[in-house]
Parts: sequence; C-alpha cells; structure tokens
Amino acid sequence: MVMSEGTVFNRMNRLRDLPSLPEVAMLIDRVVGDTSSSAADVAEVVKDDPALTSSLLRIANSALYAGRHAGSCTNATEAVTRIGFREVRLLCLSLSIVNLFPDKGAQNMDYRAFWQHSLFVANTINVVRRHLPRSLQLSDGWGDSSTYFTCGLLHDIGLLVEDQLFAEEFKKIKRLAKDKGFTLRRAENAVLGTDHCGIGAEAARLWQLPIGVAAAIRNHHSPLEEEGQYKTMTKCLHIADFLSHAHDLGDHGSEEPERLSRRTWDDLGLLVGDIEPIVGAAQREAERSKLFAMLATRA
Ligand SMILES: [Fe+2]
Ligand SMILES: [Fe+2]
Repeated sequence: MVMSEGTVFNRMNRLRDLPSLPEVAMLIDRVVGDTSSSAADVAEVVKDDPALTSSLLRIANSALYAGRHAGSCTNATEAVTRIGFREVRLLCLSLSIVNLFPDKGAQNMDYRAFWQHSLFVANTINVVRRHLPRSLQLSDGWGDSSTYFTCGLLHDIGLLVEDQLFAEEFKKIKRLAKDKGFTLRRAENAVLGTDHCGIGAEAARLWQLPIGVAAAIRNHHSPLEEEGQYKTMTKCLHIADFLSHAHDLGDHGSEEPERLSRRTWDDLGLLVGDIEPIVGAAQREAERSKLFAMLATRA
C-alpha cells in the first residue's frame, strides 16, 4: 500500500523525542564563538559527552593531526588544541549528529559510506561558497560557513530517517529502484508518497534548524525550484552533491548519476576557470571525509 506524505510526517513526530539535535554542538558553537574562550573551556563542554570525547581523541591521534606532535594525545584539552577551534566546532557538530543515528545493524544502508558522502558535501559546499563572486557572498549575508556546513551534512538525512523509521518501506524502495530501474526519488514517491528531500526538510523543521537549511534540503536535487533568499545555498549544495557523485564517493542511496544543472553553475557567477580549483579542493576534502567517517562510525 502506498503511504501518504501526511502519514509519513505523522510518524516522524517521534523524531521530536531525539535529544535536541546537536545540543552539545550548539553549546560548543557558542563557546568557540566567544573570543575569550580557551581550549580548556571548549574541552569542558566536550567532556560532558563521553562518545564525543573518545571520537575527538581518535581524530586528534589520527595521521591527519598527529603528524607534527610528539606522543599521543590523552585528554580533551590537548585534543582541542591539536585540532584547532574551527575544526573542533564542525567536528563536534558532525559527531553529535552521527551519534544520534546509531547503525543498529541496518541492512538497507551502509552508514559509513553515508556519512562519508555527507561529510564530503558539508566540506565541499564551503569550497564552492568561497569561489562565489563577492557580490553574491555579500547578498547572501544570512548564511555563514557553519550554516552551509550543517546544510551539507544533513542534506540526505531523509534517507537515514527512512532507514530508521520506515525500514520495511525503505527495503521496497531499494528493490523497486533495482528491479524496475526507477530513480531513487521515483521509487520513494511510489512507496511513501514523498521522498528523502521532503522527509529531510521536515526533519530539519522538527529539529528547529534554520529555515534556509530546510529549504536547501528540500530542493537539493531540483535547485532551480528554490527561488527565494535561500537559492544561493541550495545551488552550492547541488554542486557539492554533484561533485561527490562525480568522485563516486560514499552512499547517496542510489546508483543513478547526478546531473549538474548548467544554469546552477552560471547563476552562481562561477567561471570555467573556477572548475579546476574547486575540483582540486574537493579531492582533498574527499580524503579527509573518508578518514572522519571511518573514525566517527567506529564502534
Ligand atoms: Fe539526495
Ligand atoms: Fe547527496
């Protein structure tokens, strides 16, 4: 039986019971944003969350950060100093969201590949943002790099919600896509009456994330449909998502190739000469995303 969007959204109400999305991350955001804060202040907040602390220590001791430092890092304050405030802020946000969706042996989704894709898009959306012409950056004053990051990290969260709350239906969706050659979104609409874009936007609304995050998630596969004040972020998201598919990086829930809308690129005022540096930076992000996804999802 085909479900309706209303039934799907009703069942999603239980998402409200999740610990308020990245509570710790929000707190860290505030502490890091305060220029008088020290590494010890940030570590004090991190310490309240043991899973977060152990993931941060693992990352601080990984090849990416351990290189220049002698000996292994054993406490949160050292980890914050080694990783750096800006990175810690984004890492804590990522880790607290990853921890909200434990991989409970789910069969329908490779969680590590999913987070690898999401982290890549979260980092790459800011690469694209940095290449925008200055006039566009200024007119887009509401969206700072951490809002863009959140938007990239959560753009496919609808797929995880489907896997966790609609496991049976998600199985059917995957089968339809495989057996009948349906695109993922067509299969989702056939089974649930909505797709991961609509479900993701509803999750963002329930979690009271900035309204622009919900708008960009809703239209990440149809960026030209977003015509309001969030259109720049939506288009950057679409390009970052495309670059992930082009690198064949991680699990985006479907085999179908993503198409880059040429108008999206032109509307953002990007030039042919921007392609090489954007792709080069995206390649470097791909390596980092692989490592973070591995460290963040290790039991
Ligand atoms: Fe998607
Ligand atoms: Fe995606």
